[in-house]
Amino acid sequence: MSLDTSVSKAAKPHDVLAQVLADEMQAVNGLIRERMASEHAPRIPEVTAHLVEAGGKRLRPMLTLAAARLCGYDGPYHVHLAATVEFIHTATLLHDDVVDESEQRRGRPTANLLWDNKSSVLVGDYLFARSFQLMTDTGNMRVLRILSNAAATIAEGEVLQMTAAQDLGTDESVYLKVVRGKTAALFSAATEVGGVIAGADEAHVQALFDYGDALGIAFQIADDLLDYQGDSGATGKNVGDDFRERKLTLPVIKAVAAADTEERAFWSRTIEKGRQGEGDLEHAISLLHKHGALTATRDDAFGWSAKARAALEVLPQSDLRDTLIDLSDYVVARLN
Ligand code: IPE
Ligand code: IPE
Ligand code: MG
Ligand code: MG
Repeated sequence: MSLDTSVSKAAKPHDVLAQVLADEMQAVNGLIRERMASEHAPRIPEVTAHLVEAGGKRLRPMLTLAAARLCGYDGPYHVHLAATVEFIHTATLLHDDVVDESEQRRGRPTANLLWDNKSSVLVGDYLFARSFQLMTDTGNMRVLRILSNAAATIAEGEVLQMTAAQDLGTDESVYLKVVRGKTAALFSAATEVGGVIAGADEAHVQALFDYGDALGIAFQIADDLLDYQGDSGATGKNVGDDFRERKLTLPVIKAVAAADTEERAFWSRTIEKGRQGEGDLEHAISLLHKHGALTATRDDAFGWSAKARAALEVLPQSDLRDTLIDLSDYVVARLN
């Protein structure tokens, strides 16, 4: 019996991945630190260090490393791809916190609060550009296409969300488009490029894509649920932000669909017109409970998590594959 195995079995899949991929993640973090620097503009490392040193789960780069390893890759470029993915993620967070007027991220005040919107937008742009430089190091056209498509799709998802926000007509199909775009596109690109750089066969690349897609959707649905019933100490973000931002996320879409006339007037006042006062968040949460919207949202998250698990089952069995399968449970386990 090896001690390692018994430790791994008890640990969270995210920690197991971090442990298994520790050397490569160290290389990824080194590359991130090196490439987030700037010779001429000190504001850039100030802002990036604030966000990067706050940690973050590093979920997406670990997915790229794991996918490459799962497909037998033994070259150096999965590290570049993993760093690229985290750069894109970090750039979108800087921009997202401006758009959402958020004040807390990774348990710290956001960059837009500490510096200003201009700094967040411009440093986000810098990181996007740096991510493209990083991916060209691989010299692989197909991964360039996948990652640049993902960057466009994320922006598209954020814009769609912006126009769908405050619109009580937003339904679950629009929500799914938003979530696939703003979140799942980067998860699926992260896993897909791992397979592609390893030269995996198409069925395996497709399985990795499908896994990332379903995992990303499960992850964002969970995030949207936690916005109403989470603990900001654990999530590092404020509870009720989505309501204040008048976002039509899945719990609200479900409650609006079941609303009577009086409740519809409440949603119209608070979400459509943005006239919110004391006690409104609490009332919104009570309506979500009344219509079982939180439970139904949780069920949807678990459904996508099961899809992620099923997608990976076509890959040959290995400990690493099983850890990724466990990860699909972990992204929704925080809902239990
Ligand atoms: C936050 O992603 C953005 C969403 C898609 C909800 P993470 O929760 O992975 O953020 P970090 O990197 O761990 O802070
Ligand atoms: C984050 O979306 C998705 C992207 C960064 C593109 P949200 O706005 O829902 O996530 P949080 O709650 O700010 O992390
Ligand atoms: Mg946000
Ligand atoms: Mg947002």
